[in-house]
Parts: sequence; structure tokens; C-alpha cells
Amino acid sequence: MRHLLDVDELSAEEIDSLLRTAEAADELVAAEPLLGARVALLFAEASTRTRLSFEAAARGLSAETYLIEPASSSMVKGETLVDTVRNLDAIGFDVLILRHRRAGAAWVAARWFGGAVVNAGDGWHGHPTQALLDLLTLRQAFGGASGLRGRKVVIVGDVLHSRVARSNLWTLTRAGAEVWLCAPDGWLRNADGHAALRLTSSLDEALAGAHAVMGLRVQRERMRGSAMSIDEYVARYQVTEERLARLAAPGCHYLHPGPINEGVEVTREVARGPRSLVMAQVRNGVPVRMAVLAALVPAGGSSQASREASRTLE
Ligand code: CP
Repeated sequence: MRHLLDVDELSAEEIDSLLRTAEAADELVAAEPLLGARVALLFAEASTRTRLSFEAAARGLSAETYLIEPASSSMVKGETLVDTVRNLDAIGFDVLILRHRRAGAAWVAARWFGGAVVNAGDGWHGHPTQALLDLLTLRQAFGGASGLRGRKVVIVGDVLHSRVARSNLWTLTRAGAEVWLCAPDGWLRNADGHAALRLTSSLDEALAGAHAVMGLRVQRERMRGSAMSIDEYVARYQVTEERLARLAAPGCHYLHPGPINEGVEVTREVARGPRSLVMAQVRNGVPVRMAVLAALVPAGGSSQASREASRTLE
């Protein structure tokens, strides 16, 4: 792996290898594979879980971490993403972990950065490490790598604007799950022709026989321009214990990437109850990100050779 931009670039074997490495993260920590590496974290969009778990993962593997705060960087003076990335490259960082509001930002960064770029979420597009940690969480819940085969996994909520949904589609269908997307009309993209994907605007239809349900954050700010009010959304799409008990398979799990609007897309009872894997997802964030970083940084912690190669190309 040179970069991790999205999960569609990973083979099933590479995904499996990353998740197995994550499950043996203690061995990774002992090996200090990032000793001497310098990791820059540029989060040009808000984050709690992703930023902190990347930082903890990099430090846990003995890297030095550097957080670039956009509000106190020269980005506020109008410095472009490309110029910022070129400067980070010149300073000599080995890894750039980038979250950005624009889809494709990580691909742009990868053109100008000699080390490894990790996409920590780009606009509506992709969130590869979230999809990997979600897959690990589901594999653990269903008893191993083959446990998702034939399981019905429902992603419900603001599918249209969700980078988490998009990345999860790849990993979940590749793991053999039957993936359903459930959202109000207009929030679903046409995905006709994808054999392992089903679309519905009926929550009852989606939940029927579901083995796992993944909620997505409803972005209240966007409801203002929507034909549907929050109250109507809650009435039609909120994941409740009553609905799960009535419709889903026994023991159906609930996941959510966070942040959660309790009382909107899901009730507190479900989000914090025995079905919930939400904190397991968060716990898996650090070892999964450790596995990704260890796969990207060459032994010895420096990507100087690839940086030199990149300069030659310039
Ligand atoms: N799941 C997720 O990406 O959360 P943050 O936005 O807090 O990083």
C-alpha cells in the first residue's frame, strides 16, 4: 500500500490482512514499526473519533505526531490545499492523515505528497478507516471473517451525503453481506445493477429480518431545505427498540459511526442498549488505524525513498 484513499482500492485479501493485524495490535505496538516516522494530521473539518484514534494509533506505534489546526494555519490566509501539502512534504513528514470537506481532497494531496496519504474522510465521498473498523466490529459480532456472509445489513439515514455509507458498501458487499440502503425518497442514489445492494424508502421493509442496522447521522441543518421535517423523519425512520423487536432478526445489532443525534435517527434505548456496538466500533478505531499506518510506513519509519522518487517525477 502506498496510500489509503478508499477501500475500493483494497483487495479482499488486503482487507483481511489489515483486520487480522488490527486484532494483533499488541504485537504491533511491541514492534514499534513507526519509530522515527513523523505523522501530520490535517483535519480541515471537525472530528473527535477519527482524529484522536489516528493520533493514539500513531503514537502507540512510536511515531511523532503533529496536528495542524486549520484555524491557526496559513490556510486562513488563503493558502491552498495543494500548497499546504507541498509544504508538509518539504518539511519531511512521512504520513499525512487528511480530513477535508471536499470529496477527492485526499487524491489531490496524494499527487503532491511524497509520503503516504490516508483519507480520514473527504466530503460526501469516502471514509475508508471507518468502513474497516465497522467491518472488524461486525466480524467480531458474527464470529469471524466468514460470519457476514448472507447477513442482512441495513444502512439507514442520510445515505446520499454519507461517506461512511459509500465506503461501507464496498467492504460489506465484499464480505458477502446483503446490504440494504434505507432513506427517504431523494436521499437515495440510484444504485440499480448492484446485485448485492437493495434500496428502499420503507424502514419496515429494510428492518425485516435484519441482522445488523447501521444508523447514519441526520444532518439537521439540511432538514431545513428538505420536504421532510425532523418530526416526520423521526416518525418514519427512527430506529427504535419496538421496531427492531418486531421486525429484525433476534439479536440484531445496532451500529453508528457517530456523532449520534439520540432521539432523531435512533432512540437512546437502542444507541446505549444491549444491541449497540457503537462503543465497540470506537474501540476498534485505534487498532485498525494502527494496522493501516503500519502497512503504509516502510520498516524504519521513513518514506524518504518514495519522496525522492516523487521529486524525480516532478
Ligand atoms: N465516525 C467519525 O468519523 O467520527 P468523527 O467525525 O468524530 O471523526
